[in-house]
Amino acid sequence: MLIKKPSDIKSSEITPESVFRNRREFMVDGAKALLGAGVASAFPGMAYAQNGDLLKARAPAGLSRSAPAAWWQDKFSNIKPAPDAEPFYTAESLTPYTDVTQYNNFYEFGMDKGDPSANSSEFKADPWSVEITGAVAKPGKYNLEDILKPHALEERIYRLRCVEAWSMVIPWIGFPLADLIKRFEPTANAKFVEFETLVDPETMPGIASRFAIVSWPYREGLRMDEAMNPLTLMAVGVYGNYLPPQNGAPMRLIVPWKYGFKSIKSIVKINFRETQPPTTWNDLQANEYGFYANVNPAVHHPRWRQDMERRLPQTLFSRQYIETRLFNGYADQVASLYQGMDLARYY
Ligand code: MTE
Repeated sequence: MLIKKPSDIKSSEITPESVFRNRREFMVDGAKALLGAGVASAFPGMAYAQNGDLLKARAPAGLSRSAPAAWWQDKFSNIKPAPDAEPFYTAESLTPYTDVTQYNNFYEFGMDKGDPSANSSEFKADPWSVEITGAVAKPGKYNLEDILKPHALEERIYRLRCVEAWSMVIPWIGFPLADLIKRFEPTANAKFVEFETLVDPETMPGIASRFAIVSWPYREGLRMDEAMNPLTLMAVGVYGNYLPPQNGAPMRLIVPWKYGFKSIKSIVKINFRETQPPTTWNDLQANEYGFYANVNPAVHHPRWRQDMERRLPQTLFSRQYIETRLFNGYADQVASLYQGMDLARYY
């Protein structure tokens, strides 16, 4: 990950956190009311928009240009709001929608922070399928509807800490990865889970770029107990609406206690295996990016200091630096996974 000039973020575009938090409270009822009031084509995210500027009846980016399938709309009209308690929620200020969707790392669309939002208009997250392979009783190629249908959606407000020393607080919509994994019935040989992102040079211009440094597909992996931890989320939405392509439509991983590069986007393959899988950044530069990638202020990184982070949004005149916490503040939930391990060695 190269460090680039931060994109300009207009303060006029910042949605006050209080507005969003109020929206959350009537999100479910509001969505139902809207749908019932004959605005049936309205996307549930409009419930958030009633108060103003956010998500103004925009098309669900990355899904079909027309209204998404009824089952998909249905899911988003019934989202369980995050509980007002850690660890699935944090009272820290939310990073505004504009920053969350315009300051991205998604190298398949380019290497600058603004590239994913600027270069993803051709990306299609519908139709979509996910291949399940390896040590499971139920392998197969499942379409998105089959993957998502049994899972109730919930909101989780998590910190996201990038190894590049910036961070955000993001309201995701998703469901526990553990619930998905159980459905495929992993066998005793399933010690690790490996994920792969779509490779489509036609709609992902960063792939064919001569500046591309990644050997595609982008790959990530987790140990099985990490994958089954209740914090690990399969996200399908953000800020009450569908994931835009730049955030990993139609489904991406969120592992909040690890550096952001573990949270792989636009997943098309999940493989269960006995040995630790190769992962993109570890393959590229093993001395900088480990397999574990647990947020850890005590483990040195050759290019970015890891004891502090720059909390977005920032403007030219105000930069907010805060102390980075072990496991990104989720130690109570995950420290036991690494008991007895030398975290400086297994970084
Ligand atoms: N997934 C894919 N397929 N390609 C990528 O380049 N970048 C990672 C991760 N997932 C990346 C990816 C990195 S470095 C980070 S910090 C997060 O996505 C950023 O997620 P966000 O853009 O939604 O904030």
